[in-house]
Amino acid sequence: MRAFFALWPPAATAAALAAWAGQAQKRTGGNLTRSESIHLTLAFLGEVPEDRVADAINAASKVRGAPHALPIEQAKVWAHNSIVWVGPERTPPDLDLLARALRTELGKEGFVIETRPFAAHVSLIRKARRAGRLPPLPNLDWPVRDFTLVRSRLSAQGSSYEVVERIGLVD
Ligand code: 2AM
Repeated sequence: MRAFFALWPPAATAAALAAWAGQAQKRTGGNLTRSESIHLTLAFLGEVPEDRVADAINAASKVRGAPHALPIEQAKVWAHNSIVWVGPERTPPDLDLLARALRTELGKEGFVIETRPFAAHVSLIRKARRAGRLPPLPNLDWPVRDFTLVRSRLSAQGSSYEVVERIGLVD
């Protein structure tokens, strides 16, 4: 299966992000991420054989990370891939540690994770035009108390995601 680890926002936060993206799309065009699909990727696994899924969950369960908040402070258009994304101004240290620890544990288990540095971003519009100015972001609350292993299914309508496992963070 095609899989990745991610942070999933509370439904109300996802709805607020989707509403903001709907406004932004008026300026950028492009395709909106559905509210139920909004996430922040921690580690992208790609194709994982079914019999290796338990190993990925086992590796993730060894990760120790502290619960924290994810501030959504900036909205940008990436010119290189035409994605409108939102995220923190600076990656919270607890999130950086979580992503690093997860990638380390997955590596020990033999999963090949990309070597590009972790860029905390939430993709909200694809195939966007460059916009002069994006609408101001609302105040958003995104508590990070767990992370998820997600299965991705590709179809003509775009990707749909299914949370396979939740791994809690404890103080
Ligand atoms: P994106 O939002 O920047 O496109 C599911 O596809 C998630 O995994 C998306 O958040 C996507 O990031 C990310 N993703 C897809 N392909 C990837 C790759 N080859 N390397 C890293 N992340 C990837």
